[in-house]
Amino acid sequence: MQTPLYSIRMRASRAGEHISGAERIVPFGDLPALCAELTCRAQEHPRGIPDEIRLSIDAIDPATVRHGSLPDITTVRVDDLAAGREAALAELIKAGVSESAAVAAMQLLTNGPNPDGGGLRGALLVESRNGVRLEPDPRRGVRVSRMDLEPSAAERLQRVLAARRLDNPHVREALVLAAKVRMVPGFVAELCWSDDPDYTAGYVSTLHRGYVRFPHLKSLGDSHGGRAFFLRTDDLDLAAVIAFLQRTPVLFDRVGTIHPDEEYRP
Ligand code: COA
Ligand code: AMP
Repeated sequence: MQTPLYSIRMRASRAGEHISGAERIVPFGDLPALCAELTCRAQEHPRGIPDEIRLSIDAIDPATVRHGSLPDITTVRVDDLAAGREAALAELIKAGVSESAAVAAMQLLTNGPNPDGGGLRGALLVESRNGVRLEPDPRRGVRVSRMDLEPSAAERLQRVLAARRLDNPHVREALVLAAKVRMVPGFVAELCWSDDPDYTAGYVSTLHRGYVRFPHLKSLGDSHGGRAFFLRTDDLDLAAVIAFLQRTPVLFDRVGTIHPDEEYRP
């Protein structure tokens, strides 16, 4: 019989403002340790002390679990924010995003894509050629959830990242999220930079190149991050894509290759 698995999720907020979130998929017996670990995560975030911490635990139907591989990783060295944005734009265009759609999404992430001002609670969905936004709720976006690494892949990932001085929760968790997003039909690319004011790196994920990191995609001290998922919408069942991103459990059992760093040459 398969071990029953559970989705455990933490979100922390203060005065209704989101501070941090994290999630795992684990066997029943690991839940007490995970409650402690995720509570510590909630207490230690650089955005401050929460006044509300929510832990949610739900059993997962084993028949619905999908499996997948993490993308390869390449760091493209850039000297500053301007070069980082330029290099990320070039990567998006190479993957098949139109220049106008890529530039518009970058502007939205920079200025805050929420029509009420500020960021979203999830990601922008963007048609990769014409730049049209596809999220059903443009104040919320689409939030990817129910994904984790198999234990052996988690161990291997930490080892290979540590050898390249990349082993931090930002990279590990963003890789897992990006790996799930790449699985959807119509996927062309993802662009992300973090909300955390002390984390300036960001990435572009594409099918051909994998997860491409840029050390500077925003300024130090800036707490406005965001994500955009670029999709080709020909024959796309958008509702099924969103349902997959939000609810289908995925466990990653293979780790990609870490390629040598590249220098950005405009
Ligand atoms: N930003 C702002 N608000 C958020 C939020 C976020 N990232 N995540 C949750 N919330 C708030 C929203 O108000 C949300 O209501 P909504 O669905 O109307 O937007 C409410 O909390 C409930 O969210 P829900 O997704 O139902 O909570 P959950 O407890 O099931 O899962 C998370 C919460 C944060 C664990 C999950 O959404 C998530 O983001 N998982 C991925 C975490 C991760 O690996 N992040 C790393 C990215 S580098
Ligand atoms: P973070 O990398 O957690 O700092 O998040 C950066 C931005 O990505 C946030 O502002 C959100 O817009 C978006 N985001 C965070 N979590 C998710 C998620 N689970 N799914 C989709 N988008 C997310």
